[in-house]
Amino acid sequence: MLVLGIETSCDETSASVVRDGVNILSNTIASSLSLHKKYGGVVPEIACRHHLECINYVIEESLNDADAKLSDIELVAVTHGPGLTGALLIGISAAKSLSYALNIPMVGVNHLYSHIYSAMINGTNVEFPCIGLIVSGGHTTIILVKDYNKIEMLGQTRDDAAGEAFDKAAKMLGLGYPGGPIIEEKAKAGNPEAIKFPRAYLGKGSFDFSFSGVKTALLYYVRDNHGGDILQHKKKIGSKDNLFVHQDVPSVSDICASFQKAIFDVIVDKTMNACVKERATQILIGGGVSNNKTLRSMFEAEACGKNIKVLFPVDGTGTDNAAMVAAAGYRLFKDGVISDYSLDSEPNLCLG
Ligand code: KG4
Ligand code: ZN
Repeated sequence: MLVLGIETSCDETSASVVRDGVNILSNTIASSLSLHKKYGGVVPEIACRHHLECINYVIEESLNDADAKLSDIELVAVTHGPGLTGALLIGISAAKSLSYALNIPMVGVNHLYSHIYSAMINGTNVEFPCIGLIVSGGHTTIILVKDYNKIEMLGQTRDDAAGEAFDKAAKMLGLGYPGGPIIEEKAKAGNPEAIKFPRAYLGKGSFDFSFSGVKTALLYYVRDNHGGDILQHKKKIGSKDNLFVHQDVPSVSDICASFQKAIFDVIVDKTMNACVKERATQILIGGGVSNNKTLRSMFEAEACGKNIKVLFPVDGTGTDNAAMVAAAGYRLFKDGVISDYSLDSEPNLCLG
């Protein structure tokens, strides 16, 4: 079955053709990321205008790349939440139009859940129950995946998401946006043990997260160790590596490496604990932060020798994309889920 996936929940306009929920034939992504950089975060109006301008071309290109015609498509799957209201509506409207014009079914997909599918496409043999971890700009969530469409929320962030914490940290350090990839790059030359940032475990057995403490610790650290005025200093910090006023203080790279380690220590520990508690043998990881190579190697090191397999998004599906939406939509459809034309954007849609 050929499924056309559509994803417009945030700043990526994406369309993808996936066969039988596993074979990605195309995955076209037009990102408005560069337009948001100077604002230090996604501006919804700019994202929406970009979606409107691109959506038809992106769909057309995804069909061309897949060597498919519109008449070959048998199901359209579309993200309907969570995300930016207006942005979601553009994808939903495109999906409804196609569904109506082609007389094919449409299914609405939860964006969070679709991130887990990015680790399942391309023929991964999934063993249920497994643990799902979504680490993105908006969410840090651990779920128990009992079957394709049977999940249970185990824990989520009580404040900032991991990606959001990276974005805010990079902003404090004057490094730019989006923060995750920049901090990863800077961290490569740094010492992760240089600064002891706090780790919030929130009590024994909790699978919830909190990253506001480590973020505030970073703010105070820079304020107290680099002249007392982060706003003045961030210009100096951001302009060049190691350009702190004092030679004896840790470098920007040390700060990034230590900050990244503080966040990843908690994520890896809690996910592994969830895996042990639920007797799962697989962890499926999705979301933009899962692109981070340090996070990947930390997981691999922890899982080594424990009969636990950690599955990361297949190429190009770490950040927002429509292939994961098509894959998730296919499974929903197989379980009898079909959306009618009352499908609406649900900006605060939850999991479960
Ligand atoms: O999943 P995604 O593309 O969009 C959301 O649904 O949020 O994730 C974007 C987030 C941003 O916060 C970005 O800083 C973070 O993922 N990110 C990374 C990396 N690449 C993207 N964080 C850490 N390391 C990376 N390499
Ligand atoms: Zn996402």
